[in-house]
Amino acid sequence: LVIHREDYRPPRFVVDAVDLDIQLDPELTQVRARLHLRRQSEADDQPLRLCGEGLALLEIRQDGQTLPKDQYRLEEGALLLLHPPRDFVLETLVQIRPIANTALSGLYFANGHFITQCEAEGFRRITYYLDRPDVLARFGVTLHAEQGPHPVLLANGNRIAAGQEAHGRHWVRWEDPFPKPCYLFALVAGDLGCVRDHFRTASGREVALEIYVEAHHLDACAQAMDALQRAMAWDERVYGREYDLDRYMIVATDTFNMGAMENKGLNIFNSKYVLARPETATDTDYQGIESVIAHEYFHNWTGNRVTLRDWFQLSLKEGLTVFRDQEFSADENSRGVQRIGDVRRLRAAQFPEDAGPLAHPVRPDAYIEINNFYTATVYEKGAEVVRMIHTVLGAAAFRQGMDLYFARHDGQAVTIEDFLAAMEGATGRDLAAFRLWYSQAGTPVVHAAGRYDPAQRRYSLTLRQEAAPTPGQPEKRPLPIPVRMALFSPAGQAMPLRGQEEDGAGDRERILMLDTAEQTWIFTEVSEPPIPSLLRGFSAPVRLEMGFGDAQRAFLASHDDDPFNRWEAMQGLALQALLAAIDQSHGAGVLPELLHGALAAVLSDAQMDPAYRAELLTLPSEDYVGEQMAVIDVEGIHCAREALRRAMGSAFGEQWAADYESLAFPYSRDGVSSGRRRLRNLALAYLLASDASYLDRTRQQYRQADNMTDHLAAFSLLVHQPDADVSDILADFYQRWQQHPLVIDKWFAIQASAPRPDTLAKAQALLQHPAFDWRTPNRVRALLGSLGANATVFHAADGSGYAFLAAQIRHLDELNPQIAARLATPLSRWQRYDAQRQGLMRQALEDLAGKANLSRDLGEVLEKSLKLA
Ligand code: ARG
Ligand code: ZN
Repeated sequence: LVIHREDYRPPRFVVDAVDLDIQLDPELTQVRARLHLRRQSEADDQPLRLCGEGLALLEIRQDGQTLPKDQYRLEEGALLLLHPPRDFVLETLVQIRPIANTALSGLYFANGHFITQCEAEGFRRITYYLDRPDVLARFGVTLHAEQGPHPVLLANGNRIAAGQEAHGRHWVRWEDPFPKPCYLFALVAGDLGCVRDHFRTASGREVALEIYVEAHHLDACAQAMDALQRAMAWDERVYGREYDLDRYMIVATDTFNMGAMENKGLNIFNSKYVLARPETATDTDYQGIESVIAHEYFHNWTGNRVTLRDWFQLSLKEGLTVFRDQEFSADENSRGVQRIGDVRRLRAAQFPEDAGPLAHPVRPDAYIEINNFYTATVYEKGAEVVRMIHTVLGAAAFRQGMDLYFARHDGQAVTIEDFLAAMEGATGRDLAAFRLWYSQAGTPVVHAAGRYDPAQRRYSLTLRQEAAPTPGQPEKRPLPIPVRMALFSPAGQAMPLRGQEEDGAGDRERILMLDTAEQTWIFTEVSEPPIPSLLRGFSAPVRLEMGFGDAQRAFLASHDDDPFNRWEAMQGLALQALLAAIDQSHGAGVLPELLHGALAAVLSDAQMDPAYRAELLTLPSEDYVGEQMAVIDVEGIHCAREALRRAMGSAFGEQWAADYESLAFPYSRDGVSSGRRRLRNLALAYLLASDASYLDRTRQQYRQADNMTDHLAAFSLLVHQPDADVSDILADFYQRWQQHPLVIDKWFAIQASAPRPDTLAKAQALLQHPAFDWRTPNRVRALLGSLGANATVFHAADGSGYAFLAAQIRHLDELNPQIAARLATPLSRWQRYDAQRQGLMRQALEDLAGKANLSRDLGEVLEKSLKLA
């Protein structure tokens, strides 16, 4: 059953108010719902269809009267009221089984807590409802539960009243003054401790901030609380947006399908994005908490106050909110390093998606299962599109557009079109061409060619764009591509730019708008042949083909003053070295001279921010190298990259050793310290790659580290040694951390990502480990997600990796379809490999497609993946 964007119709009924009375019990929970329903149109005698899945209907009343059997019908997924009045109260009582809810959508019971997840369509698994984002209602909720195990009862909004009742039970009443779609509904019940703080808004309102965690984690919430307060201040400063309720609650759970959820006033988080102590969380974990906390907070305006008309508009809230959280992190940390990380993620996840069978536009036209569309395209590419709009309008105009967007649409359920219209309305700018970025899938390739004419002292730059077909979109039109650029003199200075358009003449940086298939710009008064720096800051989500040689790359690697492009030039040098080595099927045993020089310069630049230095010295990932090849040569890439790491290790052995020693500082949580740790651990990795005697040093760091970043870096290096026996280390790590699920996730993940011949057997065995748990998504991802991302093991030539993963997906699909469908993505990329592997991967997909009771989630992924066959 395919849902099409064009089929959108406004709701025929609205819900003015919802009253829920929920008797929580793990085995049998009863949900009584009173809905005030009102018909929108005059004459309309169609039945009213309410969504409902897996509900046992016990009672149904209309305006207080039991509804006769001939007045309603139960269907698969729905309750139909055959003759609904214009304006009435529908009361239903349903029964559900939270303990049996392994899909973790709707209301579930895990680790002793009741948790909900309603986005996108989980509310229909709690009660019969108009489960669509454009139906906004006021919610009141009374929760009842056994007091002993569930002393804390939370729902959205304000806590109105509470009391005791018979059989050791108690109740709490919550009311949310803001009308909201049901996907933002949440409840939590359990035995949770609370960390409290507060925030005073710009207009002087006191907001209580509460983070609910299991009592033994009360000491692990400081980073989350601090990030929340900074995010609240940032949204006031940068967007003029204040928080709107008296209370902002965050709950952490170990059992959650995704990162976190922005339920109104009651965010629910994967504990991975809340809990952190130096002994158990890495610097990367701390960074992840800051950005996800901010992301969910920012949703209060971009998502909740202004919500979605339908799920096709998902990027309206997600792309915009990712853009906002990226900018927050850039302001709070290093902008350059942040941008590099954001682009690295986009290229690792979104570019392959855009080039494969699951490619879809930022605003999709059709879906089978909406949960499959919480993708890198909707989130990350969506953020890039918002960023381009920000780039072309400028920060001040963008802010005016946002102000108008909020002013016009507060309290409404709107579309991406409304967002663009507000941007246009506030600025008088025409964004018509930009709409294509939302509807056209695929990553454009921009080819650049420059020509210098010494007689005329002119430099002409020609940019040409093209894009490959994607499923359902054989023809591609030219997109508006903002190319931020500069020209460097051979001495390394950015030159003043003069050309035919005089605006901004003399600036040293300009944005060229490529909005046709091919365009040429002429720069005048150019006294020397320049070296162009194009797509600075990665100003558009495209692949840039510069037609450069290593000399130009090396030049920019040492002279470009744009941190992103300088990094890009370094990556380019390393990438060329790797591709050449793979091509000639020899390892990259020697460092090409220009790469050597560029690395030497970075290694000796003690002034440079250590985190940025680490970025410059990190090789492109194996996946990224594979992306650049017509046919991904898994083994060739791995060997070449390992050989290059060895060569880099031995060529600069002394510098690495000096860095390793000099960067040892006592642990501190600030950005400079975490940058030092990153660089120091990178140094250790290079030393170990080229000199086995560093094994002892690595073991020593593993034993002596006073923080998880250093401890885990050493652990990972040891476990990833191709031939060392590390069983003692594996046992020790497990022994030390077995009480800490988030750390044990790392233990699983690092073993499953080891590029070792015995990894598959190990993974097979880990499935039987007492700590492995099919019902905990973090654990499943740690083992199976990591294995699917482990190129040499997953793509073993005999197909054993494919068969293994497919067998686990088959099992998981019975329990948790959302996660099962996600795990199948590596298999969907089969066209990128050689014929032998293609056959084996397709075989695995076909076997899965033949499974009985295939979920809609997994079914959609398999069908699309196999369509190209
Ligand atoms: N809205 C949440 C966020 O981005 C994610 C919800 C994901 N839902 C899903 N069904 N996958 O913060
Ligand atoms: Zn989000």
